[in-house]
Amino acid sequence: MSNIAKEVAKRRTFAIISHPDAGKTTLTEKLLLFAGAIQIAGSVKSRKSDRHASSDWMDIEKQRGISVASSVMQMEYRDCVINLLDTPGHQDFSEDTYRVLTAVDAALMVIDAANGVEPQTIRLLQVCRARNTPIITFINKLDREVQEPLDLLSEIEDHLGMDAIPFSWPVGMAKRFGGVFNLPKDQMHVFDNKNKDHRAENIEILPGLHNPDTEARFGAEYAKAQEEIELIQAATPDFDLHAFLAGKQTPVFFGSALNNFGVQEVLDALVDMAPPPGPREAVQREVKPTESKFTGMVFKVQANMDPAHRDRVAFVRVSSGHFTRGMRLKVARTNKEIRPNNVVSFLSQRRDLVEEAFAGDIIGIPNHGVLQLGDVLTEGETLQFTGLPFFAPELFQSVEVKDPLRTKQLRTGLTQLGEEGAIQVFKPHLTGGSLLLGAVGQLQFEVVADRLKNEYGVDARMSPSRYNLARWVTSKNPAALKKFIDSNAANIAYDVVDAVAFLASSPAQLRVAQELHPDIEFHTMREHS
Ligand code: G4P
Repeated sequence: MSNIAKEVAKRRTFAIISHPDAGKTTLTEKLLLFAGAIQIAGSVKSRKSDRHASSDWMDIEKQRGISVASSVMQMEYRDCVINLLDTPGHQDFSEDTYRVLTAVDAALMVIDAANGVEPQTIRLLQVCRARNTPIITFINKLDREVQEPLDLLSEIEDHLGMDAIPFSWPVGMAKRFGGVFNLPKDQMHVFDNKNKDHRAENIEILPGLHNPDTEARFGAEYAKAQEEIELIQAATPDFDLHAFLAGKQTPVFFGSALNNFGVQEVLDALVDMAPPPGPREAVQREVKPTESKFTGMVFKVQANMDPAHRDRVAFVRVSSGHFTRGMRLKVARTNKEIRPNNVVSFLSQRRDLVEEAFAGDIIGIPNHGVLQLGDVLTEGETLQFTGLPFFAPELFQSVEVKDPLRTKQLRTGLTQLGEEGAIQVFKPHLTGGSLLLGAVGQLQFEVVADRLKNEYGVDARMSPSRYNLARWVTSKNPAALKKFIDSNAANIAYDVVDAVAFLASSPAQLRVAQELHPDIEFHTMREHS
């Protein structure tokens, strides 16, 4: 096996998704702790608050206490290199989250056992489902009063549309939480709320489901668990790795992230079940991760990670080859050459210099606008990966500048924020119309107004727009598209890459347009191309 193939086989790249407060940050921290990437619990939490403290440019973020930024952590566990991509939990940033999901090979879904599957998780799952991303499920907070495990399983199955296959089963909950029964190993793992480090080597283990000692010790709680286990063993199919990899089954683990309980099982599942990086589709051809030449795609651009430097960092997922610091790369869109020297990786709160990277790894390239969302970096080849989604906005505002002398700054600011994916900017087809901003969540407007002011010195005036939905329009027949644009001129706008969009004020208006123009295709999602 070549060195590249060996490195690729070691990689596991996944996103951690959940509804806010389900315990994503806590679990992330515990995964890092168990992998030995951080020594002290609390680092990731403090990263959360550090980020608020350091991102003064975005007071909104601080005020609302939500983490707008996604970040990347790398850890080594057993013989694997695990890349963990955090996703912003707040629903107004789901667009960003969706794009992060295009850069991973698997997802870890965290569910609060008291709340079950929550709305934000459902939206994220739809994206995973559309891409057949394999999902590992962790049901958290068993140390609290929570829902019945059987109900949780069926809720997951209903929402995911895939079989939920338990790998562990809880015995009791809240104060009576006795631990979990590990199904593949046929043994009980005892929960001890004084033990803050539930690693395999210092956990009490009781063998066998029908163990009289266990039955005596955990009484009615255990009898109930035994009954449920027998029920699910009869009713659920066996775990099938292929079905999991195809996104048709999800393995389910129960635990308590706060108490380090059940965390190691999740790490082991990532290593044992989650797939290494696979091939990626490009317009021109399929790119295999083990190819010798480097390729990678920008899936996220973030401004001002470090306010002292006013930089933009392009997050690149390596798709193939071997990246070394200082190598010459071509930006396929512009043919420009770059030689990233000060590349950053993201490990917990440290930003280390990357020396080398392989498929599945994420590298951060600081730049001043050379790199945009969807850009492909190669060693010379012209390549465009497919699949980076832009979602049709659901909210619109028109934007004008209070001081007309700053119109140019407004345009520059909006172009850059649009390239970053912070907001979608639409230019109306009819001249004289003001620019339109499109968002998936209301908070995006506030963030953009705040950043325009602080970073570009522009006082923007935003006002409600009459539009409520947008569809990108295409047609196999160019004449038909032109006719459509001409006859709907007042509702046509162009996005940041000049793709044509039809803006409507109501679903009825959209329906009428669709009926009148059968040769026009209306799209809710645009893939970067
Ligand atoms: P998020 O990133 O998904 O938003 O969730 P986060 O980890 O911040 O956790 C949300 C809350 O749930 C936190 O409490 C956290 O301590 C708690 N939590 C996480 N895992 C468990 C668990 O296994 N059991 C219990 N009982 N609680 C858990 P908080 O009060 O909001 O924050 P903090 O004051 O504890 O930091």
